[in-house]
Amino acid sequence: MRQDDHDDGQGSIDFDGEGLQWQHSRTPHTPRRRWLLLGFLTLVLVITLGVIVDLQPIRHNHSLVAARFRSSGDYILDPNWDLDAAPRTRHYDWIIDDHDFNPDGVWRPMVLINGKFPGPLIECNEGDEIVVEVVNHASNATSIHWHGLFQNGTNWMDGTVGVTQCPIPPNHSFTYRFNVTSQSGTYYYHSHAGMQASDGLVGPLIIHAKGTQEKELQKVPYEQDRVVMLSDHYYDLSSKLLDEYLAPGNENEEPVPPSALINGRNIRKCSDLPNRNCSSVGPVGALFDLSSTSNTRLRIINVGAFAEFSLQIDEHEFHVTEVDGTDVYPQSIHRLNINPAQRYSIVVTPPLKEQNKSLYWMRARMITHCFAYENPELQEEVWGVIHYKGTEQFYNDTADDLTPQTSDWADIIDVECRDLNTSSLHPVQPISAPPTTDHFIHLRASFQIRDWRLSRGYLNDSSFHPTPKTPILHTLLSSLTPQTIPNLPNGTNTALFNPETQLVYQITGTPSITILIQNFDDGNHPFHLHGYKFFVLAQGHGYPPVDVQDTLDLENPLRRDTASVEGYGWLLIRFVADNAGVWAFHCHVGWHNEAGLGMVFATRVEGMVGWKGDERMKEVEGLCGG
Ligand code: C2O
Repeated sequence: MRQDDHDDGQGSIDFDGEGLQWQHSRTPHTPRRRWLLLGFLTLVLVITLGVIVDLQPIRHNHSLVAARFRSSGDYILDPNWDLDAAPRTRHYDWIIDDHDFNPDGVWRPMVLINGKFPGPLIECNEGDEIVVEVVNHASNATSIHWHGLFQNGTNWMDGTVGVTQCPIPPNHSFTYRFNVTSQSGTYYYHSHAGMQASDGLVGPLIIHAKGTQEKELQKVPYEQDRVVMLSDHYYDLSSKLLDEYLAPGNENEEPVPPSALINGRNIRKCSDLPNRNCSSVGPVGALFDLSSTSNTRLRIINVGAFAEFSLQIDEHEFHVTEVDGTDVYPQSIHRLNINPAQRYSIVVTPPLKEQNKSLYWMRARMITHCFAYENPELQEEVWGVIHYKGTEQFYNDTADDLTPQTSDWADIIDVECRDLNTSSLHPVQPISAPPTTDHFIHLRASFQIRDWRLSRGYLNDSSFHPTPKTPILHTLLSSLTPQTIPNLPNGTNTALFNPETQLVYQITGTPSITILIQNFDDGNHPFHLHGYKFFVLAQGHGYPPVDVQDTLDLENPLRRDTASVEGYGWLLIRFVADNAGVWAFHCHVGWHNEAGLGMVFATRVEGMVGWKGDERMKEVEGLCGG
């Protein structure tokens, strides 16, 4: 039990999951405090009962599953959603504030939207307008990025501090307003101010394809549709962990997350965490009530900062049907590997009734192979429960025990940190990659210790360092006039930006860009390009074959917005640079991004002329103060 925020001198209870320690009252009670005392005693009683329940080993029978795992209506997509509705504005009011919260039992400071963790679901149709009014009541500045959204024509709403906007200061508000066009599927939003996303500022954003299209693009029919967010979970504010991570002498040892969550939930045993302020009453695990007669689409999002997850549902195979908003021909697998910021939809088919079971474990394991050191607090797996609702007979299974009913897959778990093999996944809406490329960009990703014993992430010789109060977009716009446009050079913009700390690759027209990233670090880097989906042409370990460019299958490669270059591996992607704006391209491991592993593409720059005087743009500039 945490010390209350408004401690009135009644003392505090320190609950460690095994017993209560009553730290004696620091003030004698006066009549005025009698009610408080009564309330307090009731609380002790409730908690004591909680301990008794907690001390029983979780035997995983129905009643205990019911006690420790709870389903919630959150993140279930509306079954009566109108896909044919006329385009409309979807308005959201968000208050961002600091909160103490214990998602898995351990209390920690968090930054939340409307007091909710993870953040509220945004659900819309393609063609809708999204308006999110953000009021920042927290003690730190913030900014919200809409991960994977094209923001075509509204680059300034991309929410990237130091790239497209100044942060929203405490006690200020800002309204994001943009249209969702030419894309559908599973996305998410997160703070793009430092690593604040890891403090709780994340949530799902789902775009429905118009009319019957969604059903046509999804080749496995389903009736239920819901979101499953996976995330690593730290017990400290990201700002504190970042200071340690970026301190001199630390050789890129990323903080190892002690815990993991499914839709913001987990149950830690407080006795495993003696140094934490932990209470095991309250937190519950995620339980998913699924229909036993029809399929469910689960939209899996890794909203975490660092860890890759391997997700499975015991004894279930499932079909992958979507990758980062691209519908793909279904492929059957039984373990899904997912890196930070990636999304996959899987369609789950209920097991045959003859199996006579209704409960199965969902296991999400962090792939610890990529962790820099042993963390004694680490619990690498978080479990959820899949519960099939259905006929009486199906529901009343004979055995009570969950564990023996459901068994892990026998094959070895992949321990490498790399993307799911997506080479055989092909989009339902075919698009061929451009056969040739106009710009070939070779990026060597590394961590180097240079001045002051600081380890930083580099793309070639550049380590990105944002200037929050002078966003790249604003700087670039001030230099654009109808006169300068015809002579804009292509390539690294060294006139406005120092390429050592802000590598800005500038391009006019709509050429095809190919990026080869080679990773000289042992860590995995899920690279994300804002404002686009790129073609994943190839990826692998070691050096790319010399003839890699001649052997590509350009017919209908996977299109996504986040792809990984594995440790000492390489990644080859291509995109058509047709979206006017400045777009960050960075490793989505929060630590690596903050260490500088990123750059910016300024594309179709000639299309940005005129933005400077745009009213909407002025609003964004207003955040930068006088
Ligand atoms: Cu989801 Cu720049 O990130």
